[in-house]
Amino acid sequence: MDAAKTVLITGGTGFIGSHTAVELMAAGYETVIVDNLCNSDKSVIEGIEKIAGRKVDFVEGDTCDIEFMRDVFRTYEFDSVIHFAAHKAVGESVADPLKYYRNNLVSFMNIVELMKENGRSNVLFSSSATVYGEAETLPVTEETPRQPATSPYGNTKQISEDILRDCCRAYEGLYGIALRYFNPIGAHPSALIGELPIGVPNNLVPYITQTAAGIRKELSIFGNDYDTPDGTCLRDYIDVVDLAKAHVAAVDRMTQGRMDRKYEIYNIGTGRPVSVLELVQRFSKVNGIELPYRFVARRAGDTPAVWADASLANEVLGWKAGRDLDDTLRASWLWQQRLM
Ligand code: NAD
Ligand code: UD1
Repeated sequence: MDAAKTVLITGGTGFIGSHTAVELMAAGYETVIVDNLCNSDKSVIEGIEKIAGRKVDFVEGDTCDIEFMRDVFRTYEFDSVIHFAAHKAVGESVADPLKYYRNNLVSFMNIVELMKENGRSNVLFSSSATVYGEAETLPVTEETPRQPATSPYGNTKQISEDILRDCCRAYEGLYGIALRYFNPIGAHPSALIGELPIGVPNNLVPYITQTAAGIRKELSIFGNDYDTPDGTCLRDYIDVVDLAKAHVAAVDRMTQGRMDRKYEIYNIGTGRPVSVLELVQRFSKVNGIELPYRFVARRAGDTPAVWADASLANEVLGWKAGRDLDDTLRASWLWQQRLM
């Protein structure tokens, strides 16, 4: 294996990790996936291999277990890691903060420490638009100040960004990029991989597709009295394949020694705000399905509007979201049908 062309992907059987593995392989990288399958399934590996047309190295295990990870570092040569492995349910993080602080922070510190210990260079971290909270100006740029986190989950993203910034500053040879994702949705157009929501979905699109499938009776739209054009919240929905390609662009930048600073941050979004109601109506239209919905009270903690200024990623990474929202919503529905 050529270390410069090999990427360790933690959480690689998850939603974003699996799509990223596929795009990295399409771009000529080798991938090594580590996942403990706490929120995904081993069968995802087959889906990745079918799309990529080749084998993937998969190691089952916990990134919080430093001795297990030390073995992975001994076994494989790679210059870059993408760290997806984390818990991500905001509500659960409020109910059980220690579960989140332990899993998300211990695993990340292990990764950074082993990169440093083994003289490996590049760390790409999955951050989130959640770090902006209720931003004062829209769209948000990377310079928009972060707001105090409103959940332990959000706090783990802020703390991890700070850990990466400080470690890149302190340790020679270590470089970091944090990608702040907006709202990832969709699935691979082949419907061989997608999102596996466990239990009742909290996120909008899985709830829509499950309602369309008859698994849920109706969709509740949380609030139609916001100060937005149609009264429902505005978000920046980014197709997961586009998002995966942003990781390839970031890894290219790191492995080709093109970084201007040792630690860089990029917003990964479309730059286009879409309302909840508009998303629901478009889903119905493109898929030809009547979707029962009703307006209910606002959901506590929701930000009325947030969308990205992604011009830095457009210019510096040479990456731009390209998939049409209608195609994304078609892929979401195709994937839901595949799950049934
Ligand atoms: P996901 O749950 O589908 O994938 C995460 C994967 O990590 C899962 O396969 C899980 O089994 C694995 N994992 C968790 N803890 C682990 C551990 N200790 N050891 C090994 N594997 C472990 O989630 P996703 O949507 O693909 O998210 C990936 C990353 O992107 C996460 O860090 C998440 O916080 C971040 N993110 C996601 C979103 C989103 O909307 N999906 C938005 C912003 C940021
Ligand atoms: C949430 C998380 C964010 C995380 C992201 C992952 C919060 C406050 N933020 O973002 O940290 O990174 O998920 O995708 O939890 N909606 C409905 N009905 C539903 C579900 C959602 O109307 O059944 C609305 C919400 O009010 C919101 C929009 O749809 O306006 C998007 O919601 P969701 O998919 O949960 O994402 P966010 O809340 O933006």
